[in-house]
Amino acid sequence: MSKTDKLGFNTKAVHVGNKADKETGAVIPPIYATSTYKQESVSKNKGYDYSRANNPTRRMHEQNIASLEGGAHGIAFSSGMAATTALFQTFDAGDHFIVSRNTYGGTYRVLEKVFKRHGFEIDFVDTKELEKVEQSIKSNTKMVFIETPTNPLLEITDVRSLSEICKSKDILFGVDNTFMSPYGQRPLELGADIVMHSSTKFIGGHSDLLGGVLITNKNELAENLHFIQKSGGAIPSAFDCWLLLRSTKTLSLRVQRQCDTAMKLAQWLAEQNLDRVIYPGLASFPQHDLASKQQLTPDGKPIFGSIISIDLGTIQARNNFLAKLNIFLLAESLGGVESLISNPFNMTHRDLPEEKKFDLSITEGLIRLSVGIEDFSDLKNDLMNAL
Ligand SMILES: Cc1ncc(COP(=O)(O)O)c(C=O)c1O
Repeated sequence: MSKTDKLGFNTKAVHVGNKADKETGAVIPPIYATSTYKQESVSKNKGYDYSRANNPTRRMHEQNIASLEGGAHGIAFSSGMAATTALFQTFDAGDHFIVSRNTYGGTYRVLEKVFKRHGFEIDFVDTKELEKVEQSIKSNTKMVFIETPTNPLLEITDVRSLSEICKSKDILFGVDNTFMSPYGQRPLELGADIVMHSSTKFIGGHSDLLGGVLITNKNELAENLHFIQKSGGAIPSAFDCWLLLRSTKTLSLRVQRQCDTAMKLAQWLAEQNLDRVIYPGLASFPQHDLASKQQLTPDGKPIFGSIISIDLGTIQARNNFLAKLNIFLLAESLGGVESLISNPFNMTHRDLPEEKKFDLSITEGLIRLSVGIEDFSDLKNDLMNAL
């Protein structure tokens, strides 16, 4: 156990990776905006030779985010999709994968349209039904990769139980933890082997950058991922890594407030005359008990996320509603300080075949709200006016 393992979440967020500058004493480390490094002699350098392979600002961000997820290794990428792509690139043609059926549309797209072409076998399975996962395991299954809660239906998979199934079959278990952030859920503590984040979302938190990161305790896997990171080159800029270091300092404050407001909005929405209000914090949510057990803040309190999905029924009702909003912005993405709203059917899940969307009940009228840090009363009034 390293010294930092004993620190609390917020102390790690502020201090791990953030070292005062040795030269000047500057409390905030500089942005190492450099592509290359002066070498002392041939094959003798200070640990850095070219920024695609390594960069001090990126290193600081990787250490910082790994400590928050409780992992030994962080490997940062230029977007969440670049991180997911790198993870799948550690496998070979002919390998089989089980992936949550209601996964982010971009994940579905890269697996279905790129990796399948490269000889990967992929089954999209309802991973909240553990027996369906077990039934889908084959002799060549190499990884189960899930999202929990899923986007946009917020379906929850029992991470601990699924990790036990994967361990018993010697299958790698990866979790896309984007929707909860390490403040709301830490899958490595529940037995997952690797965690992926779109840092674009809660980790960045200000809708001003794209990033992705993978975190693991497995040394060989981390080495392999660092190799793919430098070989493929889908790396984040030093400036974006510096912004991410700055962003995680306020992660707990932002996410807690976003989730508190989301809970109040979901309770209010549940009292309106809507076809569906989907929020894991509502007692009526079918997997509320599992969410309460699995989605915990670092000090052990249940937390339910800042995403709410509602169903407005018809295209006309949806369009009328969206046209009347003033504070919620119609935009893809989530997790930032500003509240956003989207229509998964035509936006994030555009590439999912229509029959799959209908199967999953991702309908034309389904709306996903990402609650920001604005005042509850203003957000409620905005929704009330539009409804
Ligand atoms: C759950 C989830 N995973 C992955 C991604 C992809 O991340 P990025 O947009 O940073 O590539 C997203 C983006 O919306 C997402 O919501």
